[in-house]
Amino acid sequence: MISDVSASLPWIRGRILIDGEIISKGYAMREVYSQCSEDGQQVLIGETPNVDANTFMLAVDSASKAWNRGQGNWALARMEERLNALSVLRGKMCAAREMVCRSLMWEIGKTWTDAQGEFDRTIQYIDDTVEEVKRLDRDSSRFQFVGGLMAQIRRAPLGVTLCMGPFNYPLNEVFTTLIPALVMGNTAVVKIPRYGQLLWDYLLEGFQDAFPPGVVNIINGAGRNTVGPAIRSGKIDVLAFIGSSSVANKIKSSHPNPHRLRSILGLDAKNPAILLPDANIDLAAAECVRGALSFNGQRCTALKMIFVHRSIAKTFNEALVRKVESLKCGMPWEPNVQLTPLPDTAKPAYLTDLIKDAISLGAVLANPEHGGKVEGTLFHPAVLTDVPLTAKIAIEEQFGPVIPVHTYDDLSEVEQYIVESQYGAQVSIFGHDPEVVGPLVDRLVNQVCRINLNTQCQRGPDVFPFTGRKSSAEGTLSVHDALRSFSIRSMVATKQDSVGKTVVRGILDKDSSRFLTTNFLL
Ligand code: G3H
Repeated sequence: MISDVSASLPWIRGRILIDGEIISKGYAMREVYSQCSEDGQQVLIGETPNVDANTFMLAVDSASKAWNRGQGNWALARMEERLNALSVLRGKMCAAREMVCRSLMWEIGKTWTDAQGEFDRTIQYIDDTVEEVKRLDRDSSRFQFVGGLMAQIRRAPLGVTLCMGPFNYPLNEVFTTLIPALVMGNTAVVKIPRYGQLLWDYLLEGFQDAFPPGVVNIINGAGRNTVGPAIRSGKIDVLAFIGSSSVANKIKSSHPNPHRLRSILGLDAKNPAILLPDANIDLAAAECVRGALSFNGQRCTALKMIFVHRSIAKTFNEALVRKVESLKCGMPWEPNVQLTPLPDTAKPAYLTDLIKDAISLGAVLANPEHGGKVEGTLFHPAVLTDVPLTAKIAIEEQFGPVIPVHTYDDLSEVEQYIVESQYGAQVSIFGHDPEVVGPLVDRLVNQVCRINLNTQCQRGPDVFPFTGRKSSAEGTLSVHDALRSFSIRSMVATKQDSVGKTVVRGILDKDSSRFLTTNFLL
């Protein structure tokens, strides 16, 4: 298997899906390169669509036609029909598992193990969503009797959803918005992430077979040329975007009626780790390395700033360097490899600049032999200690394998950093004293949305809420919350008198409404 996946990737010429048709010509293409090669030279692995604004609008118009102002068949379909479609898609996806994972590995440098992990997690997400939908359906099949009224409250779709995921999870993070959006009855346009494009070609037939024309449209093109006109058209009702807050601001503000655009956003983060004086140093070092360097630090949930108390700083920094230096750097198909080439060719220069800036302000490169060494786009992880809080690396989200460590004397300095930060996703606390950890939790819980005790920051399990404060997120995603985020409660109410009861009873007996029904999914 390993030699297979390392051998090569069949050439892929990406296609798009619009209005139920898979289209392979009539638009510009651009070349796709893999950065994964032993000699550091990039390898041409395929071509991907690079559509213009007009073609992108065809996808938006198709989703808009399928939505048909809420009168489209998909929007009105019974939940059972939607789950059947999902099941067809799931089957087709599983058949394409190996090629999707290989594309992921080659294009974004995700290790073979992690690429398979991303795929399997996505299938699990679909399965968990199906179970959650059934629970929701069961719960909302009941009537509520309050104040002389009887009512049935269900969740209804919102409209045309634009799904834009990030390059670091180009499959999973698109699906965690697309699947709930679809299952709740919305129609969708998927704009494929900047890297991680080719895998989508293996899924097009699955989407085509599973969903009615126009319900899902899959397309690609430079965001700055295509997304602006799409949003300005006013035809997008829901924006599901995982990316930077500056791009989110631009997109949101270009909608002609911003209040009509529901936004579910996963944005910037600068998750700190705080090592208290009684932290278990080995455990903290291991978690910080995993937290900071999994997938080369290219995770919104990565640990991006470490605060260590002066009393343990020397021992911790040494343990951290030892662990970082023990990691294997190489190609993503190699067994036990942990650091791999970055997909973005501009990234090494940016990371190098962050290191230089920090050193110029007094930071120390604690692993000078390998830290920051660049081969192609393979960036050897760098540990920077004594990082001043004015350094760029203490402020900007590095999204790469550089670990900044700041030594503190008083916890108030760390808390001030967190309070003043524009980010508010997660934090990790390493320590044990309940008299310190308890009150610290209380003070941080209004700054971030997840506090991890003696463990790294992470999104999973996907049933947990994934959200953030300030510029880190808008809305909440989890298997359960996403169904809420992509829908709105709508209700039917009537008086609890004989007229009300007779009309409702008649509808239920004749099973004449798909909304007003006490039937539920098993
Ligand atoms: O990049 C953001 C992802 O949602 C992180 O997910 O913590 O499971 O790697 P993860």
